[in-house]
Amino acid sequence: MDAVIVYESMWGNTKAVAEAIAAGLSPHLQVEALEVGSAPSASSLDVALLVVGGPTHAFGMSRPQTREDAARRGGHPGGTGIREWIESAGDGLSLSVAAFDTHARHPNLPGAASKKAAKALRRAGCTLVAQPESFYVEGQEGPLLPGELDRARTWGEHLAGLLPESSRV
Ligand SMILES: Cc1cc2nc3c(=O)[nH]c(=O)nc-3n(C[C@H](O)[C@H](O)[C@H](O)COP(=O)(O)O)c2cc1C
Repeated sequence: MDAVIVYESMWGNTKAVAEAIAAGLSPHLQVEALEVGSAPSASSLDVALLVVGGPTHAFGMSRPQTREDAARRGGHPGGTGIREWIESAGDGLSLSVAAFDTHARHPNLPGAASKKAAKALRRAGCTLVAQPESFYVEGQEGPLLPGELDRARTWGEHLAGLLPESSRV
């Protein structure tokens, strides 16, 4: 596998963005999108690109409490989140990474899970290949705003173009 996308998602919006990014990457790289609960540890990954994405919760990455909150509002959190997944990998990761999030458009609050994830990944030793990217949803539960899946696919193509020729299909 050349690229892995690890995501968490309560209502499916971040999952849909992850799959669109995978579609953008897939002409260039062998790619798999994995829900964070079933993803192998980051420390065991041997890929040219790791992409990590999650919903913005309380100005950053989800926590157990925000996932419980989402569940009370009818969302479907998994047992863990990208915060815990990144933390559990420890440091000494030497992966090329990119991070994205989904984010409410109204109100457009500050803070983004992607920025926090990027910081945590950098702290763990990873190299960021692109600026963190946000994709916008209507309200709390979505759907994604029109055009966001196209933008995600284009972002995936852009990421593939940043990697050396030798790591592409
Ligand atoms: C507990 C909770 C806290 C949230 N906090 C924020 C926030 O601080 N900023 C924001 O833009 N959206 C916030 N949201 C909206 C989420 O970003 C939105 O639910 C998410 O993008 C939907 O993606 P998903 O279907 O993949 O979970 C919050 C949602 C929940 C459930």
